[in-house]
Amino acid sequence: DCISSSSLIKLPGLIDVHVHVREPGATHKEDWDSCTSAALAGGITTILAMPNTQPPLTSDINYSITHELASSKARCDFGLFAGASSFNATKVPAISSKVAGLKMYLNDTFTTLKLNDVTVWMEHFENWPKHVPICVHAEQQTVAAVLWLAESYKRSVHFCHILLIRAAKDRGLPITCEVAPHHLFLTAEHKNPLGQNFNKVCPSLATQSDQDALWENMDIIDCFATDHAPHTIEEKSSGKVPPGLPGLETMLPLLLTAVTQGRLTIQDIVLRLHTNPCKIFGIPPKPDHETYIEVDMKETWVIPQHGFTKCGWNPFAGRSVTGRVTCVFLRGEVAYIDGKVLVEPGFGQDVFNKVAPMDEGEGGVSLSDGLGFPPPVTRYPGLPVPFP
Ligand code: DOR
Ligand code: ZN
Ligand code: ZN
Ligand code: ZN
Repeated sequence: DCISSSSLIKLPGLIDVHVHVREPGATHKEDWDSCTSAALAGGITTILAMPNTQPPLTSDINYSITHELASSKARCDFGLFAGASSFNATKVPAISSKVAGLKMYLNDTFTTLKLNDVTVWMEHFENWPKHVPICVHAEQQTVAAVLWLAESYKRSVHFCHILLIRAAKDRGLPITCEVAPHHLFLTAEHKNPLGQNFNKVCPSLATQSDQDALWENMDIIDCFATDHAPHTIEEKSSGKVPPGLPGLETMLPLLLTAVTQGRLTIQDIVLRLHTNPCKIFGIPPKPDHETYIEVDMKETWVIPQHGFTKCGWNPFAGRSVTGRVTCVFLRGEVAYIDGKVLVEPGFGQDVFNKVAPMDEGEGGVSLSDGLGFPPPVTRYPGLPVPFP
């Protein structure tokens, strides 16, 4: 088991709210087994899975397909997102109690779920229950449109990528946002030895000055989330390059390196990868003495090209980082230790299909109190309300 030494610290099990698992439909890129193994290796005990699969998670039937696959193959805990389509605004709310939220793709990216028509966006805002999050992939002008919708419909919105958010937060809108490690630790100038195709992601990698702005505005970033979006080396090398980068195994080591460099604190990490994800998505907290990770803050290592992810490459390969996950405990079991995943496929549980006991001490305040919006229904008895 875990030997104690002065450079080992314990953190709560991390929650990554933005993962593209690829199953069903593209298991040559990733599947529930490989994806959740990669998550555990990265210190992540719960992932929230995006709905842009084949078929996409846009109906009750497709929910059942993914839920079955995930329940039998996942090695860590998980939640599923429903996807908004041009045709499901009145029907998709039927699965709202079983999912993390409704994902809306408002810009072109790697999905068949892009919503072009603003009237469709409005139908989703009207029909989706207020107490379950709406999460948007919005870039540029669509961000402003979504802010207007959030204000008109008086509901919270989570932005999967950030820009323009400070002004809206300053105005008191109940919006939250996440940032991906590749936007914090890679810029467009990065020379990937596999070729510049391997930098392609939506939204694009930032310029140095945009990246500096992210770091300077760390206080408004609610979550870190990988946006783990694996595509194979062959696909990334092809003429039609799909956007997306893997991130599950390297997010925490990159963030721990930033701690050693004095650019972040451990509390910054725990807030954005545990406390806030629980609050925003209403994830029932697990007792911290049963679900936690141990990291060695002093171990320096070089990120390899290969890991547990099936895609076979890593955008940070060759980079030296300080801080390594030594072991992961999930619901009392040793799930990962020294490079090996010990729990079987099927050990992972859906965090949204059952009521878990509360972890005392975490029934804290909601993220944005007193904004005058109507009180939402609590998703789980005894769980703090994410938004007023
Ligand atoms: O780069 C991206 N890849 N951005 C997205 O929004 C989708 C993702 C994917 O699924 O590959
Ligand atoms: Zn996105
Ligand atoms: Zn994504
Ligand atoms: Zn906790």
